[in-house]
Amino acid sequence: MRVGERHWRPIWAEADGRSVGIIDQTLLPHRFETTRLATLAEAAHAIRSMQVRGAPLIGATAAYGVALAMAEGAGDGDLDRALAVLGGTRPTAVNLRWALDRMAARLRPLPAGRRVAAAWEEAAALVEEDVALNAAIGRHGLARIREIAAARGGAPVRILTHCNAGWLATCDWGTALAPIFMAHDAGIAVHVWVDETRPRNQGAALTAWELLQHGVPHAVVADNAGGHLMQRGQVDLCIVGADRVTAAGDVANKIGTYLKALAARDTGVPFLVAVPSPTIDWTIADGLAAIPIEERSPLEVTRVQGRDADGRIVSVQVVPDGSPAANPAFDVTPARLVDGLVTERGICAATAAALAALFPGRR
Ligand code: MRU
Repeated sequence: MRVGERHWRPIWAEADGRSVGIIDQTLLPHRFETTRLATLAEAAHAIRSMQVRGAPLIGATAAYGVALAMAEGAGDGDLDRALAVLGGTRPTAVNLRWALDRMAARLRPLPAGRRVAAAWEEAAALVEEDVALNAAIGRHGLARIREIAAARGGAPVRILTHCNAGWLATCDWGTALAPIFMAHDAGIAVHVWVDETRPRNQGAALTAWELLQHGVPHAVVADNAGGHLMQRGQVDLCIVGADRVTAAGDVANKIGTYLKALAARDTGVPFLVAVPSPTIDWTIADGLAAIPIEERSPLEVTRVQGRDADGRIVSVQVVPDGSPAANPAFDVTPARLVDGLVTERGICAATAAALAALFPGRR
């Protein structure tokens, strides 16, 4: 997507053929900086430290991480080690496992001498496919926004979103934000309520920045404001992304998503989840029982990062000395609270039958 005069993606293969460029998301919105990943260790660090984050982008970075690893050593043991290191970086987004499985399936049958080139090729293909999936999700979601706009007689469609499921979280377009960007580009008036998304503030820092770059009207709200806005009739649609969706339609997404879904159901606001198929975990049905929830550092809760008056990025403590904190990073929204899954093949009910009908043969 555009930043200033240039089109950017959050990840790219560098022209040197030996490294990968990323936008360092830990510095946004205060500083736009890129950095280069040249080793397996650097790729794993980028995912773990959340320089890159968002389910599809985690998968893409892992794929390139395998390519970087193959340049360090392309034997079977090297491949196994790369898969283990990258697979251990973050537990919840299933796109990570999906991307690593795909890389392994492509590389394992090849002799070591052909693995480097094949890994770069496969990672690049995975990235291009992700962009196409998101564009398709955007078109299906746009149709739904268009209907709501017509029902509102052209008044702005007020959309609430949680976390960042925009282009920074994918290889381009985003999932939940793709329909919003497309609606705006199509001349449909939209206004986005952006949940700040504590503790790491992906909404306030990243979603707001993306919307600002694209000229989409929006307002950042405290995480706890969504229910109130829905009760007051100020939200026409909730749309969020996902880190893992089960075969029965349960949705793991950033912590706080479940509360938004509860409020949406109570107030009759449609609650949609944008889901590219690599985010569907066909091996499980019960999300509450089977989706691993990442526990992150308590420091993300006890401290907040921001920019001070001198322009420095600083971290400040917001709790008393000595108060412990807990930091579950995701929650599971049961399928019964989800009004629709916006996939690249269309919008379907969050049920096992509807998903199976849309993706026949996938188990
Ligand atoms: O911890 P993060 O920032 O990686 O979490 C991201 C989310 O929860 C997104 O909503 C999800 O990955 C969907 S991204 C298209």
